[in-house]
Amino acid sequence: MDANRIKQDFQVYEDKTLCYLDSAASSLKPDRVINVLDEYYKKYGVNVHRGVYNLSYIATEKYESSRQTIADFINADFDEVIFTRGASNALNVVALSYGMAHVNEGDEIIVNELEHHSQLLPWQQVAKAKKAKLVYIPLTIEGRITTENFQKVLTNKTKVVAINHTSNVMGYITPLEEIIPLAHEVGAVVSVDAAQGVPHQKIDVKSLDADFLAFSGHKMLGPTGIGVLYGKEALLKEMSPVEYGGDMIDSVEKYESVAKDAPYKFETGTPPIGEAIALGEAVRYIEELGYENIREHEQALKEYTIKEMQKIEGVTIYNPTVETGIIAFNIDGVHPHDAVTYFDGDNICMRAGHHCAQLVTRWLNVVATLRISYYVYNTFEDADQFLTSLKGAVAFFKSVGF
Ligand SMILES: Cc1ncc(COP(=O)(O)O)c(C=O)c1O
Repeated sequence: MDANRIKQDFQVYEDKTLCYLDSAASSLKPDRVINVLDEYYKKYGVNVHRGVYNLSYIATEKYESSRQTIADFINADFDEVIFTRGASNALNVVALSYGMAHVNEGDEIIVNELEHHSQLLPWQQVAKAKKAKLVYIPLTIEGRITTENFQKVLTNKTKVVAINHTSNVMGYITPLEEIIPLAHEVGAVVSVDAAQGVPHQKIDVKSLDADFLAFSGHKMLGPTGIGVLYGKEALLKEMSPVEYGGDMIDSVEKYESVAKDAPYKFETGTPPIGEAIALGEAVRYIEELGYENIREHEQALKEYTIKEMQKIEGVTIYNPTVETGIIAFNIDGVHPHDAVTYFDGDNICMRAGHHCAQLVTRWLNVVATLRISYYVYNTFEDADQFLTSLKGAVAFFKSVGF
């Protein structure tokens, strides 16, 4: 994959010195995605499902055809794709609708310390409200979830397994193709947080057999404010809406009302229309690049970077065996927030903190970590720019007595 060519698709790279290494937080957006969003607002920026006039038909047709694009992309049925505000919103719908209705006192919900707060916190609320128990999968010494450790906590009381596809801090891929059938054997439902998975790897919800799967637009070259919740049709059918109001309702009487079928009963009010349409364009762009190429490219960058980082004294890498383009590390004795300011001085964008997954930071026994994350537009020149800056940072902090 020619990342130098791909950079030309992103206007932000008019700044030739920009080294963007924070795609796990939010990816950059290619011009063609921005153009689709722009076109919506400029040429047919009206509401969907309501107007009996041509512009509204156009908006509705494009909005719904984007749903079909996304359904095909993950091998779901049309009615199984719900547009949400993002992955957090999608995961909250699962917990608040399915969880609140199906989890009862004494039931167990399996989670783990790698989960992003967007997946963990809604289930904490369900557990509290329903007097259910949160059960943690023990992580391996590397900080991984394994099938073996999952089996240690799986019981007949397990009602839900809330689990990530790829950890946003450690970058590890969860063995879901083994875990999901085991969960189903005890009758549990599996809610997958694939916010870090879908941008980088082909996910076929049917062959994975996930019950729910959530992801964000803004991490996969799409706009902010849009995400997707996939749910199996049979589950969505019997679930109640989480929010009530316009567009999601079929008929309203004085004291009763009847919601539409899925996916519409979960899309209350005016949706992010242009954003949903532009997400369809992001999907086409990813498909044109090809997942195989994306994965191969990220692997090569990650391997090169880790190998070079390991030569630098005073740097601790927390996930040296990682299989994706996410590298978590620290400069010994230096607070990550100080370090990240140094990198910013070299026009390198990266993340420092707990990455909305405080339990991982605690598990690593550190205050915070630095994280770089690669995507389609990153080049080996970016890796070298980062490595040079890292060497400079280590020398600088040493020289000032850290
Ligand atoms: C693993 C994971 N889950 C969920 C989220 C939240 O996604 P969103 O910003 O779309 O709500 C993120 C974003 O950082 C993430 O990395």
